[in-house]
Amino acid sequence: MQIKLDTPLDMHLHLRDEDMLKTVAPLSAKSFSGALIMPNLVPPVTTKEALLSYKDRIIDAIGDNEFTPYMTLFFKNNYSYEFLEDIKDDIIGIKLYPAGITTNSDGGVDNFDIETLRSTLEAMSRLDIPLCIHGESDGFVMDREKEFVPIYEELASSFPNLKIIMEHITTKDSVEALERHSNLYATITIHHLLITLDDVAGGMLNPHLFCKPIAKRYEDREALQRVALEANPKVMFGSDSAPHPQHAKESSHCSAGVFTSPIALQLLTQLFIDNNSSIENLQKFISSNAKDIYNISPKSKVITLEKKPFIVPNSYDNVIPMYASQTIDYSIIGIK
Ligand code: DOR
Ligand code: ZN
Repeated sequence: MQIKLDTPLDMHLHLRDEDMLKTVAPLSAKSFSGALIMPNLVPPVTTKEALLSYKDRIIDAIGDNEFTPYMTLFFKNNYSYEFLEDIKDDIIGIKLYPAGITTNSDGGVDNFDIETLRSTLEAMSRLDIPLCIHGESDGFVMDREKEFVPIYEELASSFPNLKIIMEHITTKDSVEALERHSNLYATITIHHLLITLDDVAGGMLNPHLFCKPIAKRYEDREALQRVALEANPKVMFGSDSAPHPQHAKESSHCSAGVFTSPIALQLLTQLFIDNNSSIENLQKFISSNAKDIYNISPKSKVITLEKKPFIVPNSYDNVIPMYASQTIDYSIIGIK
């Protein structure tokens, strides 16, 4: 049986820069129609000039592939209305990182007092610019996302016209919060739909599955699977595919990030079919929900998959993908 996916979108993607960009951008651009590009470069993308030149480098790196990079800016609480009005048409959203919480986030927010954030968030709300958030506190690692939920809820209630995307949710608490506020949405990764902390650290430590937020408990994975498999309109696929060179992953100070972009569609297809969901729901999760949430109309691209073993490569240049050298059940057999 052939499965056709129309215009797949990855609404949370790290493409990096320079050589890494050249390695990973074509891999996403081949099988996705477009992706929301994270701004956590060094230094982070905070100016129009940096944003447009990064976009040019991405377009350069994707070569002949038809692919739209949806750009984001790194949140700063001093962005003025005029600055945002001027950059609005070049961005799909603004990404907020708590300071120091993950890779290249040192310039993020260290004070979540609403009054400190008010003027920028009000401007974003008036200009209809979505706010994407990495929602983790600096508490105990398994509780970080849960501890951030009250901040999500305070922001959602204080700015009811602001679209807030809870990025890469990993917990049952986040799924529940999402259902309480009409302006909260979420991305979910393929790795958080498939693994728990047991896969990361329950046996031999697997650095290639180490990421932020860390994979959680079985009941959390179940809650994520429920909303993804039913294609709940508040959730969409965002891989958070986050490449790091092999030496940075297989290290005493392992960098956080799972590299999944070349196998994401195959794994999602397998997940939806094995759990008796439908291709129609997969189509919503991988594309239509994101189009509705972000109000975008990417160019069409159809990916055909088939149940046929695919041996995941050992590496893509110096980046080790999730499930490297293992066999997965579905293969991409056509791209049009
Ligand atoms: O695991 C992660 N890696 N989580 C993030 O939030 C950032 C990302 C990265 O940039 O490497
Ligand atoms: Zn990310």
